Amino acid sequence: MSDDIYREIILDHYRNPRNKGKIAGPDVSIHDSNPLCGDEIDIHMKIEGDKIKDIKFEGRGCAISQASASMLTEMVLNKQLTSVKDLTKDDILENIGLTNLGPARIKCALLSLKVLKLGMVKYYADRDPASAKKLQEDSRTL
Ligand code: FES
Repeated sequence: MSDDIYREIILDHYRNPRNKGKIAGPDVSIHDSNPLCGDEIDIHMKIEGDKIKDIKFEGRGCAISQASASMLTEMVLNKQLTSVKDLTKDDILENIGLTNLGPARIKCALLSLKVLKLGMVKYYADRDPASAKKLQEDSRTL
């Protein structure tokens, strides 16, 4: 697909975000921001067994950070945490389709993945401390 089509998709997610809002009684809620610009993302999840049964996000910020969060929620809904916890920076950049972003924009695109990983750190803290530690380390590289 051309960059123009990807730009259209990003704008569509920015204007009509999927899975935006809150969840009643979430199993995990987590918040983080981009310290450089102050943009913010909150992620709320319902987890059953090892599966993300529901996920919603709230946030404010640039088109890339918000569209990327919207796309990420679609990507992980109904997925097993065991597969989601290994998502990488490259998976996200490939998903949003913009491969030649500058470093500042890459931070925008990865903010929601960072928040999702921090949410899983919280979820795994007592259940699986080794996974929680690995996710914490991963989140520092985003
Ligand atoms: Fe802040 Fe994009 S400008 S996340």
